[in-house]
Amino acid sequence: MPLPVRRRPSPGLEPPPAAGRHMWARRRTADIYCLSGACENDPAHVLVGAGGYKWTAAYFSDVPQAPPDGILKLSVLSRADSDPAKVDLGVGAYRDDHGKPWVLPVVREAEARLAADPAFNHEYLGVGGLPALTDAAQLLILGSDSPAIAQRRVYTIQTISGTGANMVAAVFLNQFKRPADAAVYISKPTWGNHRSIFETAGHVVREYRYCNYDTLGLDIEGMLADLRNAPNGQIVVLHACAHNPTGIDPTESQWQQIADVMAERGHFPFFDCAYQGFATGDVDRDAYAIRLFVERGFELLVAESFAKNMGLYGERTGCLHAVCKSADVVPQVSSQLNRLSRATISTASAYGAKIAATVLQDPALYQQWLVSMLEMSRRIKTMRDALRDRLVALGTPGSWDHVSNQIGMFSFTGLSRTQVAALRDQYHLYMTDDGRISVAGLNSHNIDYVAKSIDDVVRNIK
Ligand code: LMR
Repeated sequence: MPLPVRRRPSPGLEPPPAAGRHMWARRRTADIYCLSGACENDPAHVLVGAGGYKWTAAYFSDVPQAPPDGILKLSVLSRADSDPAKVDLGVGAYRDDHGKPWVLPVVREAEARLAADPAFNHEYLGVGGLPALTDAAQLLILGSDSPAIAQRRVYTIQTISGTGANMVAAVFLNQFKRPADAAVYISKPTWGNHRSIFETAGHVVREYRYCNYDTLGLDIEGMLADLRNAPNGQIVVLHACAHNPTGIDPTESQWQQIADVMAERGHFPFFDCAYQGFATGDVDRDAYAIRLFVERGFELLVAESFAKNMGLYGERTGCLHAVCKSADVVPQVSSQLNRLSRATISTASAYGAKIAATVLQDPALYQQWLVSMLEMSRRIKTMRDALRDRLVALGTPGSWDHVSNQIGMFSFTGLSRTQVAALRDQYHLYMTDDGRISVAGLNSHNIDYVAKSIDDVVRNIK
């Protein structure tokens, strides 16, 4: 393809600035000029390079602007805010009592061991990932006594953290779901990325009721009714624990009711498990729902992330588990998951996987990790209670028990969008537009300020 001669366009030959396409083309193709001189009247906006090659003025001119990500945009805004009072309660990432990221001691230890290991290298992992991680992750999610593992009907592939697991699952399900027109049902509300992931993979996405917006507790009746009224065989995205963004989890008996309805309607469960150990501080309790569904005989997929519970956020370490009906379909399922992974990421990231595998496989490190998780979940619980107590002490209108009752990394405060905006603009306090706060961002130094700021906006802004 002949390259255009780089020359400044003559002003008379520049496309007119009226239409959006032209404006874009002027910015992006300022070094290409129109030989014909008729460009201004050319409805196709074709510019001709010096070699006589025809260029459409703006190849991507019809690409619509995507909205900013509701969670990640907060980190950008907060980083740009130099006010010393700033409090970032946006992205779900654990912070210590000084508002600093925490590298877990077991992670530091695992890193030291890797650094000292003469056999350590940066070779590619196999397409399925690091077996030491995928094997250990299976046991962590399904339990060491899992009949599904014993019957060899589980396949685990390493992914780019939980988001990558969601995406691989979404593409896989869109190719092989039964019935082929099954929709994906997500909770209302859910993690901001779920809809985007499943729609990007080609699914029709629908919602089931989840949050009771009056009580900020679970709308179990609404949820069960929506699952019951959905056509048979839909794909249902469930948060295994520490529901994001609400922090509202079903009780064990409510999970049993959900499983009953799912079985009755032949729905396919897809569990997103991003916070195992963060909800109760106990990895087994937090895996209750997944293990219940396996015990009930469901086939299912589980996305698992080590971002939060091991603090490996940027290392993108996770897994996708496929629990199949029987061992004989595992080769087919694994071949397709491997193919999809190869087509998108080729092979998963090695470093975080080696850290996580070291922690999960060494009995002493594993025990120490459980203690760290307990510590993180306890600090979050303490902050929940502290915020509730302060709001009550200030006499802030409304009931604040939900802040204490919710579980995991987040609290769905019930603050309105206008109140959220005011907190951001007037108090440098960052939270998602739906009123979700990352409780891990609270600490003994900012808790009074946060409570007073919330008190002010609740009293003065609707
Ligand atoms: C969150 O919800 O804040 C986290 O899961 C981070 C993310 O990727 O959205």
